[in-house]
Amino acid sequence: MGHPVLRERARPLEPDEIGTPRIQRLIDDMFETMHDSQGIGLAGPQVHEKIRLFVAGVEDEEVMVPPVVIINPEITPIGSDVEEDWEGCLSVPDIRGRVPRAVDVRIRALDRHGRPVSMAASGFQARVIQHEIDHLDGVLFFDRMTSFESLTFLEEYSRYWATQENG
Ligand code: NI
Repeated sequence: MGHPVLRERARPLEPDEIGTPRIQRLIDDMFETMHDSQGIGLAGPQVHEKIRLFVAGVEDEEVMVPPVVIINPEITPIGSDVEEDWEGCLSVPDIRGRVPRAVDVRIRALDRHGRPVSMAASGFQARVIQHEIDHLDGVLFFDRMTSFESLTFLEEYSRYWATQENG
């Protein structure tokens, strides 16, 4: 947080750029960085690449988001259900806060081979995707909070909130 690129709008990738070794290597590096940092998603601007690309995915006992590479996404909410839940961000370390997000969304994008994909996502996966797309527009999760009352250091989150809210 504080690097100007995190507050800028990233540019779309050209279709013929996607297959280049530079972008393919970047995607692999981003997955590695995300896993090393125990993140669930990582967007281009977070590694100082001003391009509309993010990776996401996690598998453990509590949460399951299949690994995806999303390029030049367009997102549309399905219905009007909104849910508030905890979020954190690798660019805002050790902070958590409650963020309202659409429960169901549809995403149209390109995959890592430049092929068009369309997918529906809901719940936690939809939340992760909305968080990452926000990064492509220079938006950080606390911009979306309706109140800062739930803004919490990770230590206090673990101590006071994790078991009640996420147990
Ligand atoms: Ni983030």
